[in-house]
Amino acid sequence: MLDPSTIDRIYDAADIIDVVKDFVNLKKRGANYLGLCPFHNEKTPSFSVSATKGIYKCFGCGKGGNAVNFIMEHEHLTYYEALKFLAKKYKIEIVEKELTAEELQQQNERESLMVATAFAQRFFTETLFNHTEGKAVGLSYLYERGFRDEFIRKFELGYSPEKRDAFTTAALKEGYKKEYLEKAGLTIIKEQALYDRFFGRAIFPIHSLSGKVIGFGGRTLRADKNTAKYLNSPESEIYHKSRVLYGLFQARKAIEAADKCYMVEGYTDVISLHQSGVENVVASSGTSLTVDQIRLIKRFTPNITVLYDGDAAGIKASLRGIDLILEEGLNVRVVLLPEPEDPDSFSKKVGAAELQKFLKENERNFITFKTSLLLGEAKNDPVKRANLITDVVRSIAVIPDAVMRSEYLRECSSLLKTDERVLYSQVNRIRRDRARQRFPNMPSLPEEKTSSSTYPPVVLKDENETHEREIARLLILYGNLELFTYRDEESGEDYTTTVAEYVIHDITQDELELIHPVYRQIFEECHDLLLRQMPITEKYFIQHPDETVSHTVADILSSQPHLSKIYERNDIYVETEEMKLKKIVPDTLITFKGNKIKNALREAEEQLVKAAESNLEEEIDLLSRKIMNLNALRKDLSKNLGNRIIL
Ligand code: CTP
Ligand code: MN
Repeated sequence: MLDPSTIDRIYDAADIIDVVKDFVNLKKRGANYLGLCPFHNEKTPSFSVSATKGIYKCFGCGKGGNAVNFIMEHEHLTYYEALKFLAKKYKIEIVEKELTAEELQQQNERESLMVATAFAQRFFTETLFNHTEGKAVGLSYLYERGFRDEFIRKFELGYSPEKRDAFTTAALKEGYKKEYLEKAGLTIIKEQALYDRFFGRAIFPIHSLSGKVIGFGGRTLRADKNTAKYLNSPESEIYHKSRVLYGLFQARKAIEAADKCYMVEGYTDVISLHQSGVENVVASSGTSLTVDQIRLIKRFTPNITVLYDGDAAGIKASLRGIDLILEEGLNVRVVLLPEPEDPDSFSKKVGAAELQKFLKENERNFITFKTSLLLGEAKNDPVKRANLITDVVRSIAVIPDAVMRSEYLRECSSLLKTDERVLYSQVNRIRRDRARQRFPNMPSLPEEKTSSSTYPPVVLKDENETHEREIARLLILYGNLELFTYRDEESGEDYTTTVAEYVIHDITQDELELIHPVYRQIFEECHDLLLRQMPITEKYFIQHPDETVSHTVADILSSQPHLSKIYERNDIYVETEEMKLKKIVPDTLITFKGNKIKNALREAEEQLVKAAESNLEEEIDLLSRKIMNLNALRKDLSKNLGNRIIL
C-alpha cells in the first residue's frame, strides 16, 4: 500500500503532457495539445490533452481521465500499479505502508509460489522438447493434433512425464520447498508420499495478464473414459480461476486492434484459432463467465463474440451466462459453427482464410439469435411462447444503455410478432423492480419515457441523468464561489452562501436525492466536504481513487469551454458562465425538481387508475390528494421559473 502523501507527490509530479507524450506524438493547438488517439484507430487527431486541467480526452472514442488513468488504460495496469509506474518515472521514492507480519508472510508466500510455478513451466517445456519420453509421447501428440512449433512455443506448452514424481523430485533437488510445491498445486502429498499432480499429461500453462505463469491445465493423452480429460491447478494465492481468462495475455494486443474479443470454450480452441490467424480470442475454460472475467475483457474492448459449436443443449445452458455480459454493458454477438464442429476442429478443417470469412459472415447479434433459437423450439405452444417472451425480455432489461434496449425491443417484437408496447412495459417493470431493490429508500423512481397513448414509444436518454450531471458540474466547477448575499433581519448582518451550500441545502431540504450512482456520489462527497468545511476542488475529483468518478469528472470538465480566456485576450465583453451563476444555479435546481415532481405525478396517476379499477376507496382518496399536492408544487415551481412551463 502507498501512503496518501506519496500518492499526492506522484500526482503532483505526473505532468499530463509529459506522461502522455511518451506514448503519443502531441502538437500544441491553442491552449491544448492534440494527437492521434492511442485507444482507437484514427487518421485525424481527436485526442486532446489539457495541461492546465491535467486531463486527456478523446473526442473520437470518448476515453478520458487524468495522468494515472492514462497509464492504467494504456498499460493495462491497476490503479496501484499505475501509481508505482509513475513513481518510477519521476524517481519518487515509494514509502509503502509498513506491512504487518501477516501481510509480509503473504507477500513472501506469493513470491515463492510464483517462482515454483515458473520453474514448473520451464521443466515441462524442457521435457517436451528435449527428453525422449517428452518428444515421443507429448510432442508427437501435439503434432498429431496439428499444433505447430511456433504456437507450442508461443503458448509455452509442455509435458509432464509418466513417472509419478518426476517433476517433484527435480524441483526438490533444485531447492524448491515441499510446502510451496503443494500450495502451488503442483505436488500432491498423500500419506507422506509426494506425487506430481499432472504426471503423464500435456501441459497448457495459464498466464496472468502480464505474462507470468500462474497455473496449469493438464490434458490426459489417454482415451480412457475414467480419466478426467483435464486436470487444472487448484485455487491458490496466485491463481484465482474466476479472475483469469485463458489466452488473454497472448490476445490482448489483437483484441485492442480488432476492437473485438472472440470467446471459445477450450485451450485447444484458442491455440487453433491463433494458428488460423485469429489472435483476438480467449477461453472461458468450459465454465460460465464470471463478472471479473467480463470486466477483464471490457478493459480491452466492449465487443464480445461467442463461438458456439452446433450443439443445442450446450447453447441453451450458456444463455443465462450471457445476460451477465449484457449487464456489464458489452455488445454480445454470436457465431454458430456447423455441427459437430468446435472452433478447434472447424479451423483445421476449413483453413485460415475460410475460417476468417466464416466468422465475418455468420456473426449475429445475441438477442435476436436467442429469440429465434427459442422461437424455433416453442413453435405454437402458447405456454412455451409466454415463457420465451419473459426470457427474452429479461435479457433485454439488463442492458444498461436505453437506446440499445429500444433497438432490441423493436427487433424482437417483430420476430415474436408481439406488440412492442407490451414488451416495453415488461422491460420497464423489471428495471423498476430491480432499481427499487437497490435503493429501497428512494421515494419515487423515475421511469423511462414511455407513454401508452402514443406509438411507437420514444426512448430518451434518461432525462434525470442530464439534470444530475449538470448539478454535479456546477458543484465541482463553482462549488466554492459566493452566490447570494442575504441580510439577516434580526441581527442586521449580511451573510453569503456559496453555490455548493445553496445547491446542497435546496436539494436536501426537499428530501430529494440524486439517482445516478456517480452523480449521487459526487453530490454526497460535496456535502461531506461542506460539513467538514473543506473546499470543493476540481483536483479532489479528478484525482478521485474511484475510477468511475475521476473519469466522469474528467469528461464533465473537458466539455467545458474556455470562455474567460477569450474575454481576457480580446478585451471584448463576453458573459462567462461564472457571471451568470445567479441565474443558472436556481434554474438548474428548478428543472431538476420539476422533473422529480413530474415522475412522482405520473406514478401516482398510474396507481390511481389501478386503485379505481379495484374500487379501493381509501387508496383513491389518498392518491387524489397526493396528486393535488404535486400539481400545486408544480405550479409553484413554474412561477419560480418565470412561468416557464415544466413539462
Ligand atoms: N475442462 C476442464 N476439465 C474437464 C473438461 C474440460 O477443465 N474435465 C475445461 C478445459 O479448460 C477445456 C474446456 O473446459 O479446455 C473445454 O472442454 P473441451 O471442449 O472438452 O476440451 P478442449 O479444450 O476442446 O480439448 P480437446 O480439444 O483436447 O478435446
Ligand atoms: Mn474441444
